[in-house]
Amino acid sequence: MYNFEYFAPTKVVFGRKTSEQTGQLVKEEKCSKVLIHYGGNSAKRSGLIDSIKRSLDEAGISYVELGGVVPNPRLSLVYQGIELCRKENVDFILAVGGGSVIDSSKAIGYGVANGGDVWDFYDRKRQADTCLPIGVVLTIAAAGSEMSDSSVITKEEGWIKRAYNSDLARPRFAVMDPELTMTLPDYQTACGCTDILMHTMERYFTSGGNMEITDSIAEALMRTVMKYAHVLKADPGNYEARAEIMWAGSLSHNGLTGCGNDGGDFATHMLEHEIGGMFDVAHGAGLAAVWGSWARYVYKDCLPRFVRFAVNVMGIQEGGSPEETALKGIEAMEDFYRSIDMPTSFAELGLDPTDEQMKTMARMCSITTNDNAGSARILHEADMLAIYEM
Ligand code: NZQ
Ligand code: ZN
Repeated sequence: MYNFEYFAPTKVVFGRKTSEQTGQLVKEEKCSKVLIHYGGNSAKRSGLIDSIKRSLDEAGISYVELGGVVPNPRLSLVYQGIELCRKENVDFILAVGGGSVIDSSKAIGYGVANGGDVWDFYDRKRQADTCLPIGVVLTIAAAGSEMSDSSVITKEEGWIKRAYNSDLARPRFAVMDPELTMTLPDYQTACGCTDILMHTMERYFTSGGNMEITDSIAEALMRTVMKYAHVLKADPGNYEARAEIMWAGSLSHNGLTGCGNDGGDFATHMLEHEIGGMFDVAHGAGLAAVWGSWARYVYKDCLPRFVRFAVNVMGIQEGGSPEETALKGIEAMEDFYRSIDMPTSFAELGLDPTDEQMKTMARMCSITTNDNAGSARILHEADMLAIYEM
């Protein structure tokens, strides 16, 4: 068990009709002008943006708006947002959407509050000193950005997808109404469930420092997400299931399921970020496609964890060798992904990358991770390439 810091400052307002409280929540932040930032269509189409505006009007808050965030959010729109915020003297950003909108908001927040090029933070050239405050109205349970310290942005020039992590950008509040997620396409719901699972799995498959309480919370979270992912596949309008998944999404990436461990593995995420950057696939689907290969590549170096996962999470009966039990757990997880129509390979993801493309992804991943990714097993460039090839 390692020492740890747990910092989860986000005020969560959870449940039906909670988005009506948005104006009041923003008012409590004592800001003078808000940027409402959102994605393509969904929040406009559902009437959510209009209702948020009404709520801000009622609270006497003035605002400007900027839509158009796409999945794997782009740096060019971040620059536009920074310019708009400076011109309009915006001092609070309200993200209405999912991980992409929240991450774009965080990037704009860094850009407005610090001088220089915001990409420097994502490019690891320097650290941010401050960030504009961010509030969230969440519309998809997935990335966990509503409570996380992370922001992931894609630079179109070179299609480079990079994360920047800092407590400065943890949202001040997150409004979570599970009903808002009922308009999601089934594919996005499944991608979300996969990402939620992965945020805990990344923290679970580590080389050491584990705590029983953390492991038990993690296992309960993973079992719960799998159970309700299946409920939602059959019954997408099931409120209880939407609520279970939504709360799991936040708990899975706010640090709770990693307390006392070594900081997590996150190699699957780093491998996926290269796939998402190069091929613009949905993050959750990219994770599902790469996880099985990663797991088979590393499980012998982290055997007790894989055995524990197989038994406690996937319900595998122990028997035979630990290796056999671990492999059965990995197979069961892949079966789960397939059961919710998630891919377990490049081919199922609809991709057929060339050798050159895989080499490029491995090289980029190695650069981003200082050629030292993971915890379950430390991966270098050759390992990354081997996993892509698998
Ligand atoms: O743009 P609109 O029209 O809103 O459509 C979105 C988008 O196409 C749609 N959507 C969202 N809410 C909806 C809805 N459609 C119907 N009804 C609703 N209620 O869903 C699509 C996906 O949205 P997006 O925000 O991209 O999804 P997600 O939350 O999965 O975010 C993915 C991004 O987050 C990053 C990923 O890499 C990816 O770029 N991540 C961010 C993390 C963080 N900041 O902590 C951690 C994660 O590991 C992840 O890397
Ligand atoms: Zn993720």
